Amino acid sequence: MKIIQVTDLHLVAPGETLCGLDPLARLQACIADINSNHADAGLVIFTGDLSETGAEVTYRFLADALTKLTLPFRLMLGNHDDRNVFLHVFDGIPTEGGFVQSVEDTAEGRLILLDTLLPGKPEGKLDDARLTWLRQRLQEARGRPVYLFSHHPPFPIHMPLLDRMGIIEAEPLHALLVEHGDVRHIFAGHAHRPIAGSWRGIPVSVLRSTNHQSALDFSPDRIATTHEPPAYAVIFIDRNGVIAHFHDFLDETAAYR
Ligand SMILES: [Fe+2]
Repeated sequence: MKIIQVTDLHLVAPGETLCGLDPLARLQACIADINSNHADAGLVIFTGDLSETGAEVTYRFLADALTKLTLPFRLMLGNHDDRNVFLHVFDGIPTEGGFVQSVEDTAEGRLILLDTLLPGKPEGKLDDARLTWLRQRLQEARGRPVYLFSHHPPFPIHMPLLDRMGIIEAEPLHALLVEHGDVRHIFAGHAHRPIAGSWRGIPVSVLRSTNHQSALDFSPDRIATTHEPPAYAVIFIDRNGVIAHFHDFLDETAAYR
């Protein structure tokens, strides 16, 4: 199974830029590259921060851009998003308990897409309702591999300011994953950096934004933005494991066609 992960679009109003870059043009280039090179992928998952401001116009532009994407897709929310405005624009999107979260059952196991948005706050939230939902979805998938998608990484990445913006309920989340016993990967966004490793034995990865990136800076209270290249991930999942390739889609020297 081949999946594409795209994250942290941070769309702004038409004609505006963010960090000196045009997020919509970046998204359009990303979609064109996916269409050209990965038409065989089964799904494209956008792991949140779709909008920079949560403004309705940004979701309208997202909806328009997505009409060009030739693959099935799922949209997730991040801390920059506004759930109500998003659902007003994407009114046909399935929700669970009012949250933009869902599962996708595949031949390789169950994909679980979390909604970690806590309105007005940069950190992620899994309140009792969302933890109960997750517990039920994991129980249904007993005996099957599970792959978790979350805007916020629940694991520390050793960048202190970002680590203070993780998931508040990381411990209850971890307990549920351990209880299931076969959670094979956590795919996250939020950090705007390419990161791979494991969290207490569970493999994890994080991806660059399609717009601006976080500088590689481990100081305690600072995040600088950079113009490192945007990327999306090409993810292969099969019985042998998970492999994620990070593709710098604007790098012309990386062209392979
Ligand atoms: Fe972001």
